[in-house]
Parts: sequence; structure tokens; C-alpha cells
Amino acid sequence: MLGFQRFCPYIARMSDKTNIWKASVLTLFPDAFPGTLGTSIIGTARDKDIWSLETVDIRDFADNKHRNVDDTPAGGGPGMVIKPNIAAAAIDSVADDVRPVIYMSPRGKPLTQKRVRELAAGPGAIVLCGRFEGLDERVIEARNMEEISIGDFVLAGGEVAAMAMLEACIRLLPGVLGDSTSADQESFENGLLEHPLYTRPREWEGLEIPQVLLSGDHKKIAEWQLTQAKKITKARRPDLYEAYEPDGDDHEHD
Ligand SMILES: C[S@@+](CC[C@H](N)C(=O)[O-])C[C@H]1O[C@@H](n2cnc3c(N)ncnc32)[C@H](O)[C@@H]1O
Repeated sequence: MLGFQRFCPYIARMSDKTNIWKASVLTLFPDAFPGTLGTSIIGTARDKDIWSLETVDIRDFADNKHRNVDDTPAGGGPGMVIKPNIAAAAIDSVADDVRPVIYMSPRGKPLTQKRVRELAAGPGAIVLCGRFEGLDERVIEARNMEEISIGDFVLAGGEVAAMAMLEACIRLLPGVLGDSTSADQESFENGLLEHPLYTRPREWEGLEIPQVLLSGDHKKIAEWQLTQAKKITKARRPDLYEAYEPDGDDHEHD
């Protein structure tokens, strides 16, 4: 059986529920979940027990009868701050394992496909969604939270950010994508953005599919796709292009 499991990771995952990739989401809006995580391939993967979702209502850990979770910022200023004792109690209610504890935050390290791959390869994640002005700094330190941002803009809360990050991880879990190799050929995987894509009809509104893609010459097609990927990356993401390291199939970096 063990040999069989090695060659069929999906079957192995199914037969041992402790292998399920576990997402625990701490939020003031548990009704927002599963949201898009319940649809399409991500929702199907949950039905197949490839991953599991647990939502924890931070308000359940409020320490007064009004169920308040926030208070005014020390030193003054606008808005409210989530109290450390309440956030910590919510985290401690699930943090009984080795999963990273992540705080979605515009101040965090920008999320990358590299970090997504690392998270997907691990046991799952505990994700706290902020609201108001954010979270008391002491709980971030005391619970060793990793702050992750999904971009240089400010959302009203961490729920959409958590969904984006979780979706990116879950689609990489074995058995989620129909063609398990397709994730390897996408934007960021080789340090470049993806080349342009086309499908039938061959001609649409006077615009043709580039001839080389119809040639059947796989070497030429791969060369064209790489050239296009480099052109797009150089124009749109000079930062990525600068860091791009050509591999064995690509000797140029102009
Ligand atoms: C209104 S924002 C707080 C913004 C915070 N006062 C600041 O200036 O950095 C409320 C919550 O939304 C979430 N959030 C907002 N923008 C985000 C982003 N770009 N990435 C991840 N989470 C974000 C965080 O959980 C944050 O605590």
C-alpha cells in the first residue's frame, strides 16, 4: 500500500485524513466564508477532503456583554484597534499545531508565488483577518504572526485578502488542478509573466492567431512564447525582469 501511495499522492491524502491541508480563518465576519473558496475547483477539492476550512468568530472571545473586540488607539488617532487579549484567545483556540499564524495586513511582506508554494507544501495556515485600523502590535509579536499583504492598497478588512491567499495555495495542492503540470507553466513560475494566449477561431475581428502557434513546430513555439514572456515582463514588471535568471533553455537576458 505504501508504494502505491507514493505514486498516488491524492489517494494517500484521501486515505489519511491527518494529511488534509487545514485552513483556520479568524474573522469578525465568518459568514463571508467560504465565499469563492466554496466554488469551482477549490470547492470541489474541499468536498474531496483535500483541504478543510474552519472559521472562528473573533467576537466569540469578547470579554464583555456587548461583545466588543476593539478599543481606541493608544496615543490617539482615528478608528479602533482589535484588542490583543481577544485576538490571542481566538488564535489560541486553534493554534494547537505547527501551522504558521498569518495576519493579513497591508504592512506585511507582499505575497509571492514562492511563499504560496511554501505554504501549500506545509500543513495549512491559521489566518487572522483584521478590521478597523488593525491589530494591537503586542499580539503580532507574542504569537509570532507572519504579516502578509496582497498588494499596495488598503481593503476594508482581511477577509478578501485571506481568500486570495488561500485560493492561491489550495490550487497547488495535489489533486486540485486537472492537469497537475499546468501550474508550473504560469506567471512567476520561471520568474516571468505568462506569454499571450489564443484559442479558436483562427481569425476574429480581422485579428489572426500568430502563425507560429499554428505551425506544429514545438521548438519554435516554445521560443516564441519565451520571447513574448520576456517582452511583456520587461514592459510591465521591470523589477521581475531585472531579477530573472535565464535557465538552460534560455541563454539571453538583454
Ligand atoms: C482598513 S485596513 C487597516 C489598515 C491599517 N490601518 C494600515 O494603515 O496599514 C483593515 C484590515 O484590512 C486588512 N487589509 C487591508 N488591506 C490589506 C492588504 N493590502 N493586504 C492584506 N490585508 C489587508 C488587514 O487585515 C487590516 O487589518
